[in-house]
Amino acid sequence: MSKRVALLTGGGDCPGLNAVIRAVTRRSLDRGHEVVGVREGWRGLVDRKLQPLDERAISGILPRGGTILGTSRTNPFKLEDGVERVLEHVESERLDALVAIGGEDTLGVASRLFEEHAFPVVGVPKTIDNDLSATDYTFGFDTALTVATEAIDRLHTTAESHNRVMVVEVMGRHTGWIAVMSGMAGGADVILIPEQPITVEEACRDIQRRHERGKDFSLVVVSEGYELTYASGEKRQIAQEVAADEFGHVRLGGVGHFLASEIEERTGYETRVTVLGHVQRGGTPTARDRILATRYGLQAADLVHEGRWGTMTALRGDDIVAVPLRDAVAELKTVPPEFYEAAKTFFG
Ligand code: F6P
Repeated sequence: MSKRVALLTGGGDCPGLNAVIRAVTRRSLDRGHEVVGVREGWRGLVDRKLQPLDERAISGILPRGGTILGTSRTNPFKLEDGVERVLEHVESERLDALVAIGGEDTLGVASRLFEEHAFPVVGVPKTIDNDLSATDYTFGFDTALTVATEAIDRLHTTAESHNRVMVVEVMGRHTGWIAVMSGMAGGADVILIPEQPITVEEACRDIQRRHERGKDFSLVVVSEGYELTYASGEKRQIAQEVAADEFGHVRLGGVGHFLASEIEERTGYETRVTVLGHVQRGGTPTARDRILATRYGLQAADLVHEGRWGTMTALRGDDIVAVPLRDAVAELKTVPPEFYEAAKTFFG
């Protein structure tokens, strides 16, 4: 039976969202379903902002970054009548299914709607942070990793020319996946991540040891969620002075500057900072992300066709599998200690 399938993209955008939209739409249209896009994440279902998706709408979007549907960090559970309005609009728009493409927050809403209201939803895992459980990788991460690695490579040559310490701050929220993997790929001399926070003193010692070995420059990668940690036991999370979002997240960013001052003061080496910020999220997806996003999208369309609500498409090894949505949002996927230990071999 033909279904009316809705699609939304929620939370921070990331490269590959359009590839999922294209794959879900293409396969669903081929099966005789109708597809509609929901504008700006959950806000579009609260405020009833929909647009038709046909062959023309998805033409040429595969390599495009961002999302043609727009996105937001709206949480219907935090709005007065938010959930009621979502349910009302699903009914009045005769939507039979929703594909929610998002990270921890967007999929957390999807999971609750499924558990508490038997909402017909299927999830697709995206985020540059790669911090979702139940999947080996989220799409968007590979692109962010590639951008960060290229930045580290570029900073190496200028660091070397000036005998400087370069601190690169990358995103990742409360996990250090981008930091540890770009740091390994780019040959960083110190990497600081939230999961295994080495102290500022240790980081300075590693840099000093390296300089004593005759290297006049160093590359330090720090994850935005790293808390400045001192040998005294003192810890300091650096966040911007703005209100938390509807999911309770503070806006991170800026730790690189504090770390750089500490390094310069304690070691005497001239130090500079680069905060990569949203550059990591913008632009065209890597081939790997395009393929992963496409495979996720095709499977999400299959799950909708089969009515397997409350599931999420996931990567296990090389296989695309379906997992319960609740498993994906139960806990954050953090960097395992052994992974960080491997990176530490090259510190100093
Ligand atoms: O979750 C993706 C992410 O890019 C995080 O790495 C970062 O902390 C956050 O989003 C930034 O959010 P915003 O785009 O709202 O500034």
